[in-house]
Amino acid sequence: MQDNETESELARDFQNVWHPCTQHKDFETIKPLMVERADGVYLFDRQGKRYLDAISSWWVNLLGHNHPRLNAALNSQLEKMAHVMFAGITHQPAIDLASSLIKASAENLSKVFFSDNGSTSIEVALKMSLQYWQQTGKKNKTRFIYLKGGYHGETLGALSVCGLDIFRNKFEKVLSDNIEVEGPDCFRCPYGLNRDSCSAECFEPMEKALEKKNIAGVIVEPLVQGAAGMKIYPPVYLKKLQSACESHSVHLIFDEIAVAFGRTGSLFVSRQHDIRPTFLCLSKGITSGYLPLAVTLTTEEIYSAFYDDYNNWKMFIHSHSYSANPLACSVANETLAIICQKDFMSRLTPKIKLMKELGQQIAEDSRWCGEFRQEGMIAALELVKNKDSKQPFPIEDRVGYKVYLEALKRGVFLRPLGDVIYFIPPLVISEEEITTMMKTARECMAVVLD
Ligand SMILES: Cc1ncc(COP(=O)(O)O)c(C=O)c1O
Repeated sequence: MQDNETESELARDFQNVWHPCTQHKDFETIKPLMVERADGVYLFDRQGKRYLDAISSWWVNLLGHNHPRLNAALNSQLEKMAHVMFAGITHQPAIDLASSLIKASAENLSKVFFSDNGSTSIEVALKMSLQYWQQTGKKNKTRFIYLKGGYHGETLGALSVCGLDIFRNKFEKVLSDNIEVEGPDCFRCPYGLNRDSCSAECFEPMEKALEKKNIAGVIVEPLVQGAAGMKIYPPVYLKKLQSACESHSVHLIFDEIAVAFGRTGSLFVSRQHDIRPTFLCLSKGITSGYLPLAVTLTTEEIYSAFYDDYNNWKMFIHSHSYSANPLACSVANETLAIICQKDFMSRLTPKIKLMKELGQQIAEDSRWCGEFRQEGMIAALELVKNKDSKQPFPIEDRVGYKVYLEALKRGVFLRPLGDVIYFIPPLVISEEEITTMMKTARECMAVVLD
């Protein structure tokens, strides 16, 4: 039950605010959670009730809310300068961040372009790729290949490489002409193979698409297709992709916006699996959820195609007012410093193991859990109507949404993707909190379905 003041604030919210990815009619029955403050892995409402943030506020919050070191980095920068434009001007936080990212990422990457959210970092990669081909005499290379189920943001450029109908179908007519290929679908593998031992037989459609002459680049979410329902696929697919892109002279765009900075148990998927993408897009966890910031990293070869006398107009004409915001860069530098501490990743190992044990147990026990899947600190339970046939529930049953509502009552904030209940908690979550989070999900599944 909300107090009167909260009720009236929620009424004002309903009157004036348009929330992202939200059907506002739902608020007629269930109001949004009004959060007053956050600390560690918890969100607190106005009555002081706490909710475990099981999805890190949309992947971003890696180190927990209200982190003393991040607060200090932010405050210290605030006393010097909050913001300044980034054309014709530079500053220490951006220089430091660029060099740290270059040092920590794949060896071939040497230039960092700053922007302010994940979608814009994708726009930058797509535009840089297209302009590169224009300026190096391959003007017909104008199309991108993307995977079915792939998600790279919701601006029009990013949508034109999106493989999920719900995001793109209303805008189809204005999207650029790219190529969707069937990608990995390990849960419902058409080859009947096992993710842990296959050789990415499903690479075949990609191989065929790459034979077309006009391909500028391929874009993928490495290892985990998040918005598609945390679909997890093996690195062997990425290995094949890297070598096919090289042999067809096609750019490889790695969208590590969701998975970077420790989420998979390593700093970057590309570096972990020794893959050298042409573009690496990062955002979300880069400031551990403090401030909007994004970067697109690329190679010397790409950069040099833009480097020329001014009058030749080869520069990259693209900017955002808040590019490389100094406050955001300072928090990002501190975030990286913490994540790069010697024992940070090794402390994730027992947590990853525990999530696996608990998740596998749920999948075994529950007749509604089609699959438990996991990649590092990303875990998901896919709920299905029939475990043998893997038949999904009808959309109108809104099973995932009902589980979410039950979990809220029990103080865990989950936000499912359809009927996939997923867990991407702050990396600093304790083992006890992991147990609470997953046991609560199990209990709510039982309440809703059994
Ligand atoms: C893989 C991936 N790419 C791009 C984006 C877009 O980022 P943003 O929401 O900051 O625009 C997201 C956001 O969820 C994402 O998960």
